[in-house]
This record gives sequence, C-alpha cells and structure tokens, in this order.
Amino acid sequence: LFGHVEPAPKDPILGVTEAYLADPSPDKVNVGVGAYRDDNGKPLVLDCVREAERRIAGNLNMEYLPMGGSVKMIEESLKLAYGEDSELIKDKRIAAVQALSGTGACRLFADFQKRFLPDSQIYIPTPTWSNHHNIWRDAQVPQKAYTYYHPESRGLDFAGLMNDIKNAPDGSFFMLHACAHNPTGVDPTEEQWREISHQFKVKKHFPFFDMAYQGFASGDPERDAKAIRIFLEDGHQIGCAQSYAKNMGLYGQRVGCLSILCEDEMQAVAVKSQLQQIARPMYSNPPVHGALVVSIILNDPELKSLWLKEVKGMADRIIGMRTALKENLEKLGSSLSWEHITNQIGMFCYSGMTPEQVDRLTNEFHIYMTRNGRISMAGVTTRNVGYLANAIHEVTK
Ligand code: LMR
Repeated sequence: LFGHVEPAPKDPILGVTEAYLADPSPDKVNVGVGAYRDDNGKPLVLDCVREAERRIAGNLNMEYLPMGGSVKMIEESLKLAYGEDSELIKDKRIAAVQALSGTGACRLFADFQKRFLPDSQIYIPTPTWSNHHNIWRDAQVPQKAYTYYHPESRGLDFAGLMNDIKNAPDGSFFMLHACAHNPTGVDPTEEQWREISHQFKVKKHFPFFDMAYQGFASGDPERDAKAIRIFLEDGHQIGCAQSYAKNMGLYGQRVGCLSILCEDEMQAVAVKSQLQQIARPMYSNPPVHGALVVSIILNDPELKSLWLKEVKGMADRIIGMRTALKENLEKLGSSLSWEHITNQIGMFCYSGMTPEQVDRLTNEFHIYMTRNGRISMAGVTTRNVGYLANAIHEVTK
C-alpha cells in the first residue's frame, strides 16, 4: 500500500540539528537552528517564564481553550504588535486567534487566503525562511518572488525591492519580515519602510507581516514593531503572525497569534469565526500552557519589565558575539570584509559562505549550519567563537 512512498528530503534547518545530534565529536558546534543559547551553550528558560510557571503550578485545570485560543493571550499580543493604546484594538477591528507559534499563524493565514481569495498569490522575499515556501505551497497559494537581498553589499536591494512592489499587479499579497529578517539579518531602515508603505498604498497591496523576532532586532519589542506601526499610521489593512518562540524562549510550547486588521468590527467577527473554522478540523483548539505563561507575563507590570530586561539581555549577548566573531576573523588576518557580521541584526548572520564552504565546515570542523551560509549567532559563545572564526577563516582563504 505504501510501497511508492519515498523518504522525504531532510528539512534544510531542522535536518541540521539531527545531523549535529548524531555527531559524537566533542568539538561540535551547532549554529544551524535559530534557538537561543546562553554563553555556556545551554538552552535558556527566562526567569519571567519560571515565575509565571510557579504561579500556574497547581492552579491550571486541563480544560480545552476555545477554538480561537486564549482571549487574554490574544489581547496582550495585540497590544504588543499594534500598540498599547491602539484605537484599532478599542474599535475591535482586529480578528485574532491563538496560533501554533509563527508557523501555525502563517499557515492559518495562508489557508484563509486560499479559501477566501482563491485566485490570489503570495509574494515572498528572496531569500526567506525555507518554511515559508512549504507553508504557502501546502496551502496551495501560488508563490512569486520579490527582490530583497543584495549579495554584493550583503545588505538590502532597496531599488530592486521597490521595483518589484511597483511591478506586482495591484492588490497583491506580500509576506514581509517585520524585523530581524531570516535568514539575512538585513532590515529596511525606518525611512525605507515609510517608502515601502507608501508604495503599498499606491498599489493597494496587502502586507502580511511575519514577526517571529520582536525584541531580537533592537532588544526592544516596541522598537521592533516600528514597521507595522508605520503601515498602521498609513491606514493599511494588515495581517500579522506573532511568535513567542524566540522572544520568550517558548520554542516547544508553540504559542503565537495570528491577527488580521479588518475594515470594521462586523468584518472582524466574521473573519475570526472563519479562522476558527480552519483551526477546528486541523487541531481543534490550541494548547493552553504556553498561552497562560505569555498572558501572565504580559499582564503583570513587574513580570513584563523583567521580560523586557531579559529579551534585551539575549539581544545584547548576540550583538556581543557578532563583534567577537568579526574581531577574531580580523585577528586571524582574513583578507575578506566581515563588516556585515555587525551590520546585520537579529539572530542570524548571512555570512556569504557557499554551500561547499559550509560542507567543509561541517566535514572538517564539526560545525553545523544551513547550507545557505546562515550562521545562527544565538549558538555562538565566548568558548566557541575562536574555534568558529578559525574554521571560517580556513574555508574562506
Ligand atoms: C530557524 O529559522 O532556524 C527557526 O525559525 C527555526 C525553524 O523552525 O526553522
């Protein structure tokens, strides 16, 4: 019956973790998956999360959440993305449901898009997080590429990006990384976001923001929501996928939020009911524990300020490691420019290394990363940065 089923190809990101775990070498380094590590290379559970869990302990029953998830968690998520005092929230114009982290939020949106705008397409940046392609493919929404990265400068190809926005048919759907672009670590400046928003307005495009790293770009979640706020000021309807995997370290809890800004409350009620309809046959209703952790933290001023401090701590450690990696490469006498390591932001450095160079890093030095040359800076530590720099220098000579 299943004789025709071929093994699936390895996932380009999660497959790296599998290979890393299988390597017995004591020198091995994992800078593949975007998952934060402390300076000892260990996963970090935030103090605010531990405290929220302490408050939950013994008080949590195991009842189902509603299909749309935790109302409290959604409320807090909207404040985080749209602004504490947003009129849009007061006017109940936002349809929002809890989602299985950022991936689940994107997938719910993609399914919604297919169901209600079956002829639409999605514009996705080149490059992007590999799973974006899988998500819209499985939702059967045709994909178009838009220019984003400029390989020579290892920065933004702003002219190319603007051209593609202008040349797309009016009313197109665009998937935008709200901050800390994955994999490149390259974000538009505030001024560039304003121009992008303006051009979206002219073209009546619909922006869908994937905000998986709010807090990881600048260390301040409020600042990292700037792109979204600019679009809101300009009066766009938007969609937004939020994740608490990275900024609260709740990776395995799968907690996130999908929101769609509608024309009015009535439309928002209808859209939310349809999002719930999409969720129901897939997973019925989302898990409760992580949602409770998030709502407790964001709803308590003390825990929230602890969280803000801890997010900044994670972002700052990564920024420190960027400087350390660059300085180590310079000290080794590398003749290449490594300015982009510190110019790029967020969890990743898009190093410019070729797949062959990455293969050498893995085969000769037990360093694991995705073949597109992306380094997860969150996996770099005081202890391994010298080893990593030396290996990079050897394969890029
Ligand atoms: C990554 O890009 O490494 C993360 O977003 C983890 C994942 O699920 O791919």
